[in-house]
Amino acid sequence: MSDTFKAILLQKDGDKVTSSIEQVSQDMAPALPPGAGGDVWVKIDYSTVNFKDGLVLSGSKLLAAVYPMVPGIDYAGTVESSEDPKFKPGDKVVMNGWGVGDAMWGGYGEKALSKSGWLVKLPDNIDTHQAMVIGTGGYTAMLAILTLEDAGVSPDSGPVLVTGAAGGVGSVSVAILSKLGYEVIASTGRPEEEPFLKSLGASSIIERAELSEPGRPLGRERWAGCVDSVGSHTLVNALAQTMHSGAISACGLAQGADLPGTVMPFLLRGVSLLGIDSVMCVMARREQAYARMSTDLSAEKMAIIGAETRPLAAAIETGGQILQGKIRGRVVIDVNA
Ligand SMILES: NC(=O)c1ccc[n+]([C@@H]2O[C@H](COP(=O)([O-])OP(=O)(O)OC[C@H]3O[C@@H](n4cnc5c(N)ncnc54)[C@H](OP(=O)(O)O)[C@@H]3O)[C@@H](O)[C@H]2O)c1
Repeated sequence: MSDTFKAILLQKDGDKVTSSIEQVSQDMAPALPPGAGGDVWVKIDYSTVNFKDGLVLSGSKLLAAVYPMVPGIDYAGTVESSEDPKFKPGDKVVMNGWGVGDAMWGGYGEKALSKSGWLVKLPDNIDTHQAMVIGTGGYTAMLAILTLEDAGVSPDSGPVLVTGAAGGVGSVSVAILSKLGYEVIASTGRPEEEPFLKSLGASSIIERAELSEPGRPLGRERWAGCVDSVGSHTLVNALAQTMHSGAISACGLAQGADLPGTVMPFLLRGVSLLGIDSVMCVMARREQAYARMSTDLSAEKMAIIGAETRPLAAAIETGGQILQGKIRGRVVIDVNA
């Protein structure tokens, strides 16, 4: 099945990356690696725009590993054909990570060739549109929450902090944590998003600037856990204000990739700093995350988070907006529009 399909194509000319909508053929794509199961063709319904998509679309630091590239680090759609009996035509599936949209062709096209070992079958109550409301940001939020639970953080431990709360990882984290019964403190640089965050279940809002500047090695103990998608001083200050034996899931670097802090929260309060990697996460953990999202993220909250669906061509402009921190919640891309 190597017919042509419509896709956003990134091409490199020297140090410059251009993007355009083209008819492409899988023959132009880098070969999929051996292993990881059999080949599966997926008819894509929706993709979305994550922070990393913004970087790849902008051509920043030539972030895609190979050109020409069909970007889009995630997608959801319907299996057309499969070499692996694990999938059959008609199955609804979701793809996140594995180097898709960066080293291999991704979600900003009408179809994609995948490996069976990379796809997750969607739970019956999550459709392909909702799967992209969740997107990689939301799936990462669930991984971060599972990791806090594994570290012993529970609603009885105390409040939890979510940084970058109005963004993709942040908004899904707020919604899930509040459904689980946590008191959620949402940190945002957009005070105008307070009604949005409260509608997702945030108990209180704090100003981003409270955490984003250099602070003291230890501060008042304010939260038992945190989902951090911001990094840098924000993560360091979040650590310094975590209660004894608390934990932080570190997911992102919206403020910066640096970690300009001290070891005092680890030594004097037994705080744990836990890393989250959605890209190479093992399949059993992915399936656990989607199973949990099917119970812990309501359709009503998903509708609030993913209120906007844009056509394929708009992915490019949306990529610029996410890098500027201007996207609220998550934007879904209808690749067939
Ligand atoms: N570890 C993984 O596997 C994984 C997976 C997905 C995403 N990520 C990372 O997680 C981060 C968030 O991704 P996303 O898709 O949720 O992006 P997003 O929708 O743009 O959300 C990021 C949020 O961070 C806040 N922010 C932006 N610039 C900031 C700054 N200079 N200082 C402090 N806060 C700032 C903003 O929230 P407010 O406006 O509410 O302040 C923004 O909405 C990115 O760094 C991304 O690369 C990692």
